[in-house]
Amino acid sequence: MAIRQDTIWERFLSPVVRLLIDEKALRRYAQSVDWEKEGDRFRRSDVVIPDYYSSQNFHGIEGGYLNSGAAVSYDPITQYVLPPNEALIRQALIDAVRVQPRRILDLGCGTGSTTLMLKEAFPSAEVIGLDLSPYMLVRAEHKAINANLEINWRHGNAERTGFPDNSFDLVTVALLFHETPPVVSQAILRECFRLLGVGGQVLTIDGNQSTLRQLEWLNNVFEEPYIREYSAGSLDAWMGEAGFEAVQTQDVWWIHQVTGGVKPIPVNDTTAETNVRKYTSTQTDSIIDKDDLEGFGSPAFGTI
Ligand SMILES: C[S@@+](CC[C@H](N)C(=O)[O-])C[C@H]1O[C@@H](n2cnc3c(N)ncnc32)[C@H](O)[C@@H]1O
Repeated sequence: MAIRQDTIWERFLSPVVRLLIDEKALRRYAQSVDWEKEGDRFRRSDVVIPDYYSSQNFHGIEGGYLNSGAAVSYDPITQYVLPPNEALIRQALIDAVRVQPRRILDLGCGTGSTTLMLKEAFPSAEVIGLDLSPYMLVRAEHKAINANLEINWRHGNAERTGFPDNSFDLVTVALLFHETPPVVSQAILRECFRLLGVGGQVLTIDGNQSTLRQLEWLNNVFEEPYIREYSAGSLDAWMGEAGFEAVQTQDVWWIHQVTGGVKPIPVNDTTAETNVRKYTSTQTDSIIDKDDLEGFGSPAFGTI
């Protein structure tokens, strides 16, 4: 078990945020759910929980995300710790989408806050949220039902999702990489590359690595076991190493960054070259019609 840290959150911020949170309402919600029973609807026996995940207390919660308390407290706290505003920060990722996605996968979706926004932004897309914690998925599903949004929730490891190659047009990763050792983040980016079709886009939003390097104390705000390794690294470089091109990072309110890349046409892919040659531009090209994508098969998805 990891040694508890005396974080800025525990010493200073938590007492203030506790005043702002309706703890009674949270307790009522927590008690209204049979977490084990509902979690069992998602839990898959083939999902192996990695050691980096189960051995740490994220955000000071004993057992980390493998605890229903994490699923209950995550949203009420997160709304106060993504300055200047949680919705605005998440919107930066949505605004960076450059494809017309038909299938979207949100890896490490947690309680689904970004997943729901993706479904709202792209209502005709099939949207899947994947997470290692069945409890986070229970909470995510409640939110989707309340918002009347049809989203599929899947228990899984983002390093090895089990989905077929080339099955998504957009893969998003929100606020995950500061919580995974770099070697895991790199494996997840390789998985994103495998899952995307040619021209598909990967997008992440997370802490700004360069700001975190300059302001060491920011790394001590929460109990985040891997945040120093994350800030020492470079998402741009990791995406490039995974095979992505047109990799770009945009600073978002100085302490966050959106980083994205595109899966390029393989050098020897003659099918793709033929399709490009057959293509004749039209005046309506600036507005991409979703139906025009029909036939550029995203592989069948019935195998999930
Ligand atoms: C800080 S939360 C972010 C949740 C959500 N994406 C958001 O933006 O609020 C990190 C989430 O990633 C999940 N997670 C961590 N490692 C994972 C992995 N290898 N595969 C899938 N989910 C993972 C955790 O269970 C947790 O729900």
